[in-house]
Amino acid sequence: MITDFIIVGSGIAGLRAAIALAPAGRVLVLTKADPEESNTGYAQGGIAVAVGAGDSPALHAADTLRAGDGLCDEGAVDVLVGNGPRYVRELVEWGTRFDRDGDGQLALGREAAHSVRRVLHAGDATGREIGRVLWKRASAFGSVATINHAFVTDLVAGGGAVRGVHYVDRDGARHEVRARAVLLATGGAGQLFRETTNPPVATGDGIALGYRAGARLADLEFVQFHPTALNRAGAPRFLISEALRGEGARLVDDRGEAFMTRVHADGDLAPRDVVARAIAREMERTGAPVYLTLAHLDAGYVCARFPTIADMCRRVGLDLARDPIPVGPAAHYIMGGVDTDEWGRTSLPGLFAAGEVACTGVHGANRLASNSLLEGLVFGARAAIAMQEPPAAAALKRDRVVARGSWLVAGRTAAEPAATSHQPPVDVRDLMWTSVGLFRRREGLEHAVASLDAAERTERDRMGETTPDADAWRRLNLVTAARLVARAALRREESRGAHFREDFPARDDDHWKRHVVDVRGAE
Ligand code: SIN
Repeated sequence: MITDFIIVGSGIAGLRAAIALAPAGRVLVLTKADPEESNTGYAQGGIAVAVGAGDSPALHAADTLRAGDGLCDEGAVDVLVGNGPRYVRELVEWGTRFDRDGDGQLALGREAAHSVRRVLHAGDATGREIGRVLWKRASAFGSVATINHAFVTDLVAGGGAVRGVHYVDRDGARHEVRARAVLLATGGAGQLFRETTNPPVATGDGIALGYRAGARLADLEFVQFHPTALNRAGAPRFLISEALRGEGARLVDDRGEAFMTRVHADGDLAPRDVVARAIAREMERTGAPVYLTLAHLDAGYVCARFPTIADMCRRVGLDLARDPIPVGPAAHYIMGGVDTDEWGRTSLPGLFAAGEVACTGVHGANRLASNSLLEGLVFGARAAIAMQEPPAAAALKRDRVVARGSWLVAGRTAAEPAATSHQPPVDVRDLMWTSVGLFRRREGLEHAVASLDAAERTERDRMGETTPDADAWRRLNLVTAARLVARAALRREESRGAHFREDFPARDDDHWKRHVVDVRGAE
């Protein structure tokens, strides 16, 4: 099959790109599951954007840079916060129903590390509402086609550029599609970890696809753990949005005592990584759960403002407004990914990336809450503009990379163990949670890297013996992405943002104020 543009993934970045590309040619959107199944649809808190009185892009940028802990790309941050208002206004014009206050103005929520209220929301199902509007708009173009249950297995390269993809359909048949440009908008990788707020589709496919094709990857050690996922035996790790704490919910121990003020001046609204580690330590110290309590707030308001979360709690026998809600950390967002410039260009001509799979540099070492939907929106639209350039122009601009500061292209380091084929089979998600999770140490990381090296070889051997179906490719992608995250975490011998090394607990700007890049073959 031949088309003009291929988009892999149907979250906010992919759909916004499809809308921008539709007037320029035929657009094929490939989704590996049902079309609405993406991280976007699960985003509760909202979309951060500087549109309120007393707010400005400069203030939004300052908060983003502070959260990023010294590793944000300032140029990319300026693009994000400066372009955000116009792309969000467009969403409103297209019919997105964000909540409004009594005067009809857009209601602004608060989340951790934001100095002002700036989070637009649609109840507690903001991603679903934005997805609804983008799907409706994209589907109205006759030039946009979608194939569901199409699992992209690899990128087709030719003449030094990416020129298409291979995918397997739900019956296991293999197909090739050729195009002028391919956009990876495959979303996140929360499923690399046993505990995650992400849906089952978030298996790091774009990271693995980009890696196999030889694209540069960056900052993979930075995985954000959300502090408050529902923590009840037998129940899914459903996200209990930070917006609840923005509205006054408190974290308490099993005796009902608030503990975050002992840990950080911003208390319950301290940066996410600080709160996540504090909860884990509190649970370890007391041997009991940590709870979120809203019992001191108006019950009617709580249920009206957070209907999805209230409903989920009801299903597991909890009253959100009255009961203490047991919460704990879970993998939520990966800041690293396929390295891109400010237009979604990757290091491979013809290949673009946007949304969570991309590493634009806007999040640095730790993402500011509710900046992810904005990133998908802004950089999805911009990637679509760059995808229409002549192919020769469409490759990551090297000068921008140099301007980004120091870079280290990673080879195998002395600290990294060579894999042996004698590693026992591992449960990847369990291993990642225990050894590459909130608290990391060299021994655990070395064990993880060696085990994942071996696990990846086993998956490859198995695939060589049969015609691999989508499940086999999914397993391989998961192991590849996990191995790359573990390797990156082993390499960075400092603590910064979401990456916490118990054996190197301090931030070390002298050695580590730089991004680490992985490229296949550099090993
Ligand atoms: C939340 O609602 O707490 C999550 C929002 C985000 O991850 O940005």
